[in-house]
Amino acid sequence: MKRTLLLLAVVTGLTLQATARHRECFDNDWRFILADTATMSRTDYDDGFWRRLNVPHDWAIEGDFYAGNPSGAGGGALPGGIGWYRKHFRIETAKGRSADGQQSHDASSDKFFLEFDGVYMNSTVYVNGRKVGFRPYGYSSFEYDITPYVSEGDNVVAVRVDNSDQPNSRWYSGCGIYRHVWLTRTAAVHVKHWGTYVASTVDKGKGRLSIEVDIEGKGNVENTLIDADGRVVGRSKGIRSVITVSKPHLWSCQSPYIYKVRTKVMVGSRVVDEVETATAFRQFRFDAETGFWLNGKNMKLNGVCEHHDLGCLGAALHEDALHRKLTRLKTMGVNAIRTSHNPPAPELLNMCDTMGLIVMDESFDMWRRRKTQNDYARFFDQWHERDLADLVLRDRNHPSILMWSIGNEVLEQWSSADADTLTLEQANLILNAGHDASTLAKEGELSVQSLLTQHLAEIVRRYDQTRPITAGCNEPSPDNHLFKSGAIDLIGFNYHHEWIKDVPKNFKGKPFIMTESVSALQTRGYYMMPSDSIRKAPKEWWLPYTDPSFMCSAYDNMHASWSTTHEQNWDVVKHTPYCGGQFIWTGFDYIGEPTPYGFPARSSYFGLIDLAGFPKDTYYMYQSEWTEKPMLHLFPHWNWLPGQTIDLWAYYNQADEVELFINGKSQGVKRKGSGNQLCTEYHVGWRVNYEPGEVKAVSRKNGKTVCQQTIHTAGQPAAVRLTTDYRGRNLCFINVDIVDAQGNLCPWADNQLFFSTEGNASIVATDNGCQTSMERFQEPQRKAFFGRCMVVVRGSGRLHAQAIGLKAGEIEL
Ligand code: GAL
Repeated sequence: MKRTLLLLAVVTGLTLQATARHRECFDNDWRFILADTATMSRTDYDDGFWRRLNVPHDWAIEGDFYAGNPSGAGGGALPGGIGWYRKHFRIETAKGRSADGQQSHDASSDKFFLEFDGVYMNSTVYVNGRKVGFRPYGYSSFEYDITPYVSEGDNVVAVRVDNSDQPNSRWYSGCGIYRHVWLTRTAAVHVKHWGTYVASTVDKGKGRLSIEVDIEGKGNVENTLIDADGRVVGRSKGIRSVITVSKPHLWSCQSPYIYKVRTKVMVGSRVVDEVETATAFRQFRFDAETGFWLNGKNMKLNGVCEHHDLGCLGAALHEDALHRKLTRLKTMGVNAIRTSHNPPAPELLNMCDTMGLIVMDESFDMWRRRKTQNDYARFFDQWHERDLADLVLRDRNHPSILMWSIGNEVLEQWSSADADTLTLEQANLILNAGHDASTLAKEGELSVQSLLTQHLAEIVRRYDQTRPITAGCNEPSPDNHLFKSGAIDLIGFNYHHEWIKDVPKNFKGKPFIMTESVSALQTRGYYMMPSDSIRKAPKEWWLPYTDPSFMCSAYDNMHASWSTTHEQNWDVVKHTPYCGGQFIWTGFDYIGEPTPYGFPARSSYFGLIDLAGFPKDTYYMYQSEWTEKPMLHLFPHWNWLPGQTIDLWAYYNQADEVELFINGKSQGVKRKGSGNQLCTEYHVGWRVNYEPGEVKAVSRKNGKTVCQQTIHTAGQPAAVRLTTDYRGRNLCFINVDIVDAQGNLCPWADNQLFFSTEGNASIVATDNGCQTSMERFQEPQRKAFFGRCMVVVRGSGRLHAQAIGLKAGEIEL
């Protein structure tokens, strides 16, 4: 399409920048249909009747939970299918301007790139009816050079998204263009896509940046290093250069100091391109004896695993929801995130950089051996090299990333493991089952699986050698084919805490972390007593588990058969110096994988925070261990049957003891680690007889009160109370509580709530954290679940919440 080269082009709506590069957000005004015919790619196709929307968009989250959806409960029981997106855009003639804003330059050779941060899955992109490319992996970011396909004036891009072959995931994936899209225009000479690599090291307090710039065409490169106050603190020239800083500010979880490298490409005296790369200085290492060190400080990775969905918003990326999520985790004391089990949205990494969260960036949940019928294994042979390389190329500048994971519980750990014939639910269970020794690597053997491990590690090292490579392994034996390869720098176990004592013997000289841990099961607000009896669900991985409540216990007394309670696992991690830390499964509940149940359960029980964003009680155990600010958390609620035996627990820190009072009467003073009934190293507890009134806990240090908390018995539900949980740039998260006449939360309330708005506000979604709710996330109504639910609202105005027989609630947005 030579005609395109005649263009002096600017994309509609763009004001020319000082430099030739212009990156435009390409999210708005797409058209969408959940249907499929070949003509939908064509320029002359009439899409006038299609729905108009902005991406990021996830069509699955708009659907109904249904047992017959091929994703199954494991995939969230939401629909899949094939959908198309189309967007019309204009490219108009204009003269380009150079960096000084004066001189015009010949823009006829300008380049146009279309970049997708993520499309789930099997996306085919067409521009003006011509196929530009196909990407199967729904988590990879990719860019197409569309210069040969665009022409002056009207253009149309069409994207076919095929998520019809299900199940293809062990969790909810979402469907569609669920991350941002960008259109970039550059001069002919420009920095290539992901074309800067800034590798930072710190040695004896001195920072060193090694900068590589990959450019298209011939030009000269100049870099400046700019500190957080905008001061230039270093310069370099050339496509490979070094900048040193004598006493750099260091990046840490408490103080995530970010610098940026501004790269200019010059042709003669003209700046033809300019890009910025965020960077930081931090010194870290994983030590075989002492665990993890950051900037000379020994610390634990207090991490959580997170899937990508944002609860009731589905997979569609909303920065506000993501920021709310990370903020809530940070408040718990979390300092690390594992992007289980796939490349995350770029925005997550940006936030981790600036919020001081360490990242384990993970590539795959499977290699060649599939875990579900239609998963990425079918594309692995052809695509793994590209997808893994792209992950590292895209992400290697992020200071927050301190390790790469080349896979999670891949079946290549064993010689003959295959989950092919199993249902998704069975596959999930069997992944955690033991395998016999005959499936492990033989002495002296370098198996195909080990060679594949070496090959994947080599791909990562080709693009980055500044971070260790790990893998989430649920085969803790050193004869695991992955370990046997010698390519894993950082030994990572999923679960198997009882094997940790043997790590120094089994993996001599190798550092170690728990890449995944715990998998405890909890429903917010539901308590199974006695609290000190531990329930395994299922008892063994091959047994079914049933309980008509479809709930799990929110005391830390219930977990999957392959796992532990939170306290058990934390105790091992805390007291094992060579264990660099852990990534708990999971921070937030996520859609899909409702172990130990099947449908109608459709979201997980593993989170420390429920799907709506309400912390479960164990959240506060970690807060007591991982943060310094004095805290006390007493639970459960105080609405029971008179005379009923109730276990009350409290998590606390910065204090020696806690005293409990029921209606003013002391129930005794308890201390963690005292060996008293219901007391452990991590909580104190009392077994009491319920009487209505109030229960109060007081924590004290050296006899002085540190914190206190009172819970009153709630009367009948009387009113709906709305409070702001989180206010973002576009979205506001409002908590909805059913309260009695005195304002006490009614812990058993399940009233049906109806929402409406005034002004410019609109309801985006609602949720209550209940794993079995069949209500549509996008309906303006929701039942309270153990007294609470949550509404996501966009825009300004007022939100009203009504329930039959209760005083309505309202809030200004
Ligand atoms: C792990 C797996 C996770 C999740 C978890 C549930 O084995 O890596 O993806 O399935 O089990 O316990």
